Amino acid sequence: MAEALPSGPSSRSSVVTVRVPAKVNVQLAVGPLRSDGFHDLANVFLAVGLYDEVTVTPADSLRITCEGPDAEHVPLDATNLAARAAIALAERHGLAPDVHIHIAKDIPVAGGMAGGSADAAGALLACDTLWGTGSTQDELLSICADLGSDVPFSLVGGAALGRGRGEILTPLEVGGTFHWVFAVADGGLSTPAVYRECDRLRGDADVPGAEPSADLLEALRTGDPGALAATLVNDLQPAAVSLRPSLAATLSAGTEGGALAALVSGSGPTCAFLAKDADAASAVAAALTASGTCRAVRVTSGPAEGAHVR
Ligand code: C5P
Repeated sequence: MAEALPSGPSSRSSVVTVRVPAKVNVQLAVGPLRSDGFHDLANVFLAVGLYDEVTVTPADSLRITCEGPDAEHVPLDATNLAARAAIALAERHGLAPDVHIHIAKDIPVAGGMAGGSADAAGALLACDTLWGTGSTQDELLSICADLGSDVPFSLVGGAALGRGRGEILTPLEVGGTFHWVFAVADGGLSTPAVYRECDRLRGDADVPGAEPSADLLEALRTGDPGALAATLVNDLQPAAVSLRPSLAATLSAGTEGGALAALVSGSGPTCAFLAKDADAASAVAAALTASGTCRAVRVTSGPAEGAHVR
């Protein structure tokens, strides 16, 4: 049946590669649990310069391959969000999703940096280009939102406030470059498990609605790392640390190494450290490496450009 569907107008063009960044949440305010199982958020995303590259080529059927240090942890079947992105776009245009998706993976897997979401956004833009389906940005964003709460941001990059479950985006102005160090943990954490743990820790407490911090938005706008450090907040951090108590030592090691602030990235277990400048970031990275409290250390900066064809 799928074989009978037509291919897109430019499906014979050979290959498209899209580069797509990781993110850190500089504010992740988590409101009460909704009846649909999600939480309303005030989610301030910042894209940072760790990238996955998604390459698509025409194939006889949908196929995924992956390379990179964590490649063995990436599912290579239709549960992969990148495959689901290709299928969703093909369905919308009455095409067969006959494409080979190759992911060159540099973003930590299940690390709280939206690596899976990045691959979905990357595959979507790559297939749209390969197949010549010419989707508008709004059409792509709507498919992204169906795929996952963080996928729309992976497409647009930069910095943005995410409301709703994180998918309703308002772009944010950023007045400078922020220098970050990321401590990559051994193994990932499941996002739903971290949200469940957050609910468990809150128990019967009244949870206020999630609101963006005016001070944090102002710190982003002025590009002042000291002001941003004073306002960083992640409501999922207690849950991530509860599920992975060793993260407490990682967070302390980075702070002792000179970071302006430390926090868990998204649902973790990657820890993020904001540094005053590039030199301070190198010093924090050295301290984290010497501490032996993480598997790998990455130094980068943000904001970074969203998904783009190379
Ligand atoms: O949207 P996504 O598929 O990334 O969400 C994964 C899971 O994370 C959801 O099934 C839900 O358990 C949790 N989640 C949530 N509230 C959000 C986003 C995600 O509870 N705003």
